Amino acid sequence: MCGIVGYIGPKAAADYLLEGLFRLEYRGYDSAGIAIQTDGDISIRKKTGRVGQLAELCKQKPIKGSFGIGHTRWATHGEPSDTNSHPHVGGNGEVVLVHNGVIENYASLRDHLRELGYVFRSATDTEVIAHLLAHELSEAIKLGDDPTSAETCLKAVENTLVQLKGTYGLAILFRDVPGMLIAARLGSPLVVGIGRGEHFLASDASPLVGFTEEVVYLNDHEIAVLSAEGMKLRHRDGGVQTPSIRVLEQSAIDTDLGEFEHHMLKEIFEQPQTIENAIRGRLDEDEATARFGGLNLDPQQLRRVDRIVLTACGTSWHAGLVGEYLIEEFARIPVEVEYASELRYRNPPMSDRTMIFAITQSGETADTLAALRECKRKGHPSLAICNVVGSSIAREAGSGIYLHAGPEIGVASTKAFTAQVTVLTLLALFLGRMRHLSYPAGKRIIGHLKAMPDMIRKALECNDAVKEIAQRYYQAENFLYLGRLYNFPVALEGALKLKEISYIHAEGYPAAEMKHGPIALVDEDTPSVFVVPRCNIYPKVISNMEEIKARRGPVIAVACEGDDKVAELADDVIYVPVVDEYLQPLVTAIPLQLLAYHIALLRGCNVDRPRNLAKSVTVE
Ligand code: G6P
Repeated sequence: MCGIVGYIGPKAAADYLLEGLFRLEYRGYDSAGIAIQTDGDISIRKKTGRVGQLAELCKQKPIKGSFGIGHTRWATHGEPSDTNSHPHVGGNGEVVLVHNGVIENYASLRDHLRELGYVFRSATDTEVIAHLLAHELSEAIKLGDDPTSAETCLKAVENTLVQLKGTYGLAILFRDVPGMLIAARLGSPLVVGIGRGEHFLASDASPLVGFTEEVVYLNDHEIAVLSAEGMKLRHRDGGVQTPSIRVLEQSAIDTDLGEFEHHMLKEIFEQPQTIENAIRGRLDEDEATARFGGLNLDPQQLRRVDRIVLTACGTSWHAGLVGEYLIEEFARIPVEVEYASELRYRNPPMSDRTMIFAITQSGETADTLAALRECKRKGHPSLAICNVVGSSIAREAGSGIYLHAGPEIGVASTKAFTAQVTVLTLLALFLGRMRHLSYPAGKRIIGHLKAMPDMIRKALECNDAVKEIAQRYYQAENFLYLGRLYNFPVALEGALKLKEISYIHAEGYPAAEMKHGPIALVDEDTPSVFVVPRCNIYPKVISNMEEIKARRGPVIAVACEGDDKVAELADDVIYVPVVDEYLQPLVTAIPLQLLAYHIALLRGCNVDRPRNLAKSVTVE
């Protein structure tokens, strides 16, 4: 998954391309590059590392010109290196392109092109597209087509695309046709920004904010031919399409760190506010229920639902697990939580009363989008629980619930998780009140929810204690995270946070399940983090803690304020405020986010941009 930008108009392309790439860096930061048409040629600057390093290179070796494309890469085929960075050149430089996606049949295409004499410089699947396109172009020219005609280039693109298996978002420049940029999409999002006498292209709308308010989201199999003055849209099979112009809904992303050292820390501390935002306007006190503006399903349809599937990836999948417990408890509807990457290829029996929710922060995760499409294809009501307004999943789902958490920049998700859990609590309340949940029970839940922002504020007071605890454990190479019931998904999420940003091996388990294998890992160097607020099986979790202590494993406990029993047993305790059991994930997640943050800092890791990861995974 990578970020693509393009510009075609009267201004200096490099300025826009670099600005756009900075905004898209969350999609990958292994390398970055730009290509700009200048004086009958195409000049390229590309470099391993961050967009900042590319910007530095462009300062030293500027490229003039006002037609260009750019790319920020998350490596799929070929290690991060200058050579593997995009843009890639086809043939003898007649074609230059950038690509997001994966070409599955690249090996056979590359072998064929090698036989034809094409020389490959990189290990990427993208270079195959570049050479294939150059080849199709040369074939057309051999047949007498004009190499400087847009129509010839377009035909060559169409002939190339039909040979590709996999996914692509492409931005292409042709050396001999200045002032034209061709974009094509299958599976990897692209959006065109329409300006006055200029056009922009980007993987998502964020690079367009502030430059234009009119956008066209490309659909799969569409090809856009952009010039400064106009845009033509074609289907891959040749049919002319009418662009559907939409107003850009996104606002500029606030990247100001304020008093914080990192985005992750800032986002952790934003959680009282983001939870409040997720709740705002959604509590119906008279009816003791929740209400949502965007569900677009009538009560009759909702009452028929006899099963819910929550599908997601990563942290969003963990939020889904909390959602399963919530919805089953309050609405008594059976829920399954499916990894989107599995669901998209499985064919589980689902009745026509099954409802699907795709949970996603970015709204761009390729697997989640594909799972959503698969469920829609089979006719199930398929909705999104999503943070980014106007994202691919939000648009394709057509209806759903926004998180309103604001932009999440830190790659490791924090505030989106608690916003997702909050929305799922509201959803459980809403569905519950349509079924057997009583009015007083609904009122009680509303009261608890309203108190949550303050509870989160209190939970954040543990920051100094967590910082100190991190000092004692940051050199450990393995961690166990253990919790039960509502706190089991929190244990999984805590372990994921630690892995993501500190590169320490960590496993999350239901605390009791630990006896069936992971206990073999316990020794004096392997800390166990117990998420053990008071709950109806609290004594059982305490027994699990005893089992670890008996094997000399250090224990860090996340417990309720005033819990002296845990303090006697555990080596270190982090206290969180007392809340009802079903709301505990919202408070217990906080110290685990902070623990991962402080440990990563002590280990000298880049907390906002951890190695090998990307904020938005737009490839399978
Ligand atoms: C990536 C991110 C994770 C995120 C996951 C799902 O792996 O690094 O933080 O949880 O994608 O992303 P989504 O945007 O769909 O919630």
